[in-house]
Amino acid sequence: MKITSDHFGVTPEGEEVSLFSLTNDQGMEVRITNYGGIITAINVPDRHGQPGDVVLGHETLERYLNRSRYFGALIGRYANRIAHRRFCLDGITYSLAKNNGENHLHGGLKGFDKVVWRPREIHASDTACLQLTYLSRDGEEGYPGNLETIVTYVLTNGNELRIEYFATTDQATIVNLTNHSYFNLACGGTVLDHQLTINAEAFTPVDKGLIPTGEIRNVRGTPLDFTSRTAIGERINDCYEQLRLACGYDHNFILRQKGETFRNAATVYEPATGRVLEISTTQPGMQFYSGNFLDGSIVGKGGRVYVKHSGCCFEPQHFPDSPNQPSFPTTVLRRGEQYRHTTSFKFSVE
Ligand code: BGC
Repeated sequence: MKITSDHFGVTPEGEEVSLFSLTNDQGMEVRITNYGGIITAINVPDRHGQPGDVVLGHETLERYLNRSRYFGALIGRYANRIAHRRFCLDGITYSLAKNNGENHLHGGLKGFDKVVWRPREIHASDTACLQLTYLSRDGEEGYPGNLETIVTYVLTNGNELRIEYFATTDQATIVNLTNHSYFNLACGGTVLDHQLTINAEAFTPVDKGLIPTGEIRNVRGTPLDFTSRTAIGERINDCYEQLRLACGYDHNFILRQKGETFRNAATVYEPATGRVLEISTTQPGMQFYSGNFLDGSIVGKGGRVYVKHSGCCFEPQHFPDSPNQPSFPTTVLRRGEQYRHTTSFKFSVE
């Protein structure tokens, strides 16, 4: 188990940023920068032992500053959308930054993906960990309360990258944290041939602004039924209103089994390379986003042009717009409470 670090660049505000490399005894390597807590690379072997980088991203800090779609980043204070950038808590209405039409997306104009986190390397015999801490001040992007957030990236010898989220506040607020890695287990092309299983019997349909309507819909008989292994591209162009509204998959799946137990949310298998990714989490939902808004305008690592469906995201989280949807599990965090969630990305071959 090894952690090394290098200088990665300087932000426009003059803050020094590092790039950390976590390597396990199997040769799996994860690179993470403390700018936005971004995972810049995950190198894992295919079925012939050939390593490959399975996430989209950039080689330089400058590209992340200017040409990113939340590639690999930590998302907060609230992942996904909040309708009309407003929510009411304990009788007070809060106005958040507007950055997605009329709505608030992924924490606002300068969310947790664009701030510099305080890094701490934790060396152990069986894991390599990078702990990142960030204090989001009362009023930042419109949110109430000083929120102290600690995210720990843990690489194990079982080729598993675990992400542990922890937060506390000094005043009631809302919190919904996730990571926005775009995966492509073939290390090239699109993800349409990747075969996906999602452990969800229902999803939350959206309106044209991609805000949940409040309906909980069974996946059965719809192109969102991934309860058995199905290629992502098999039904993505079906004539189904929800696919049309989102230009593909961009939906919150309600994970089986209530309560905050850690369990399998989804499994992805890439037939050409044999790579398998298992996603497990304590979160109640998972946004599956098939990279619909990648449009070829971003050139990433190795000069690769990121076209539609070049990568897909599995974002375990609470449901979008929960603060305005009383029937969804609550995302309120109060003074004295602890926000704790764990998500794991485990790689293997088949
Ligand atoms: C959202 C998409 C959004 C994307 C931005 C995803 O989490 O679900 O609607 O366009 O993030 O990269």
